[in-house]
Amino acid sequence: MQLREALTSAISRLTADRVPSPRMNAEVLFMFVLGCDRAYLYAYPERELSADELTRYDAALVERARGVPAPYITGHQEFWGMDLIVSPAVLIPRPETEHVIETVLECVKRQSLSAAPLRIVDVGTGSGCIALALAAELPEAEIHATDVSPAALEIARANAARHQLESHIEFHQADLLAGFEESAFDFVVSNPPYVGESEEDQVQLEVRKFEPRLAVFAGPTGLEVNARLIPQARSALKPGGWLVMEISGTIAAAVRSLLADWNPVRVTNDLQGIPRVIAAQKP
Ligand SMILES: C[S@@+](CC[C@H](N)C(=O)[O-])C[C@H]1O[C@@H](n2cnc3c(N)ncnc32)[C@H](O)[C@@H]1O
Repeated sequence: MQLREALTSAISRLTADRVPSPRMNAEVLFMFVLGCDRAYLYAYPERELSADELTRYDAALVERARGVPAPYITGHQEFWGMDLIVSPAVLIPRPETEHVIETVLECVKRQSLSAAPLRIVDVGTGSGCIALALAAELPEAEIHATDVSPAALEIARANAARHQLESHIEFHQADLLAGFEESAFDFVVSNPPYVGESEEDQVQLEVRKFEPRLAVFAGPTGLEVNARLIPQARSALKPGGWLVMEISGTIAAAVRSLLADWNPVRVTNDLQGIPRVIAAQKP
């Protein structure tokens, strides 16, 4: 079978199975199986596929059709221009989390210059996406990353090694900021779990079925992790240090009130106009 024909048939199959963006998914899975880029798919539509390639493509399509997100099939996801390894042990990094990186970089620009390197901790690092992006952007900074999940930390360490950033990030298995000294950091950065179990029905089925529960759900209301993290961050930050966290529209007002006695609290919306990042300065 030729590439063009196999692609057309895959798009029809994914459409029939109600997979969103069927063309994009069919192409991503072909790029994975053939180890090529998108341009190749269109440059060589008449390329004959081997039996082995067709078998592997079919297996990937079956997985996608039963709802497994494409990054868990290919094992890769891009974040901040970096190709990251992902597995079902970690949340798939989302493009909106890049607003967290932008916010930290803006706050760094506004910091008064100090001779000491910045100390930053990423809480709940998952794939390591936030810690890695910050390590790449701020080569002088001392970066720490925590997660309670040893399996997530293994992926994060592999990503750091893949991008030659392992000497730049110290990984810790910890419950939020447990075990860190007081007034140790200039930045506490986090994309914590913030979905409430009461909202479970509104969460996409693919997320509920395949992404780690520990990464998505915080507890009954969605605020449980924030309610513990905010006071811990206050103690771990130096005076004038910043807490930068990803939030959602559902919890924005409640997180703002947990930060009521912090200095200026800024909320940034994502491209869809949803409150996505909150930044606050320790008085
Ligand atoms: C929403 S995911 C974010 C992952 C990654 N930072 C990202 O932005 O894609 C939350 C992460 O927090 C971790 N986590 C959950 N509870 C935690 C806790 N009490 N202490 C440390 N990490 C925790 C989960 O294992 C998961 O990796």
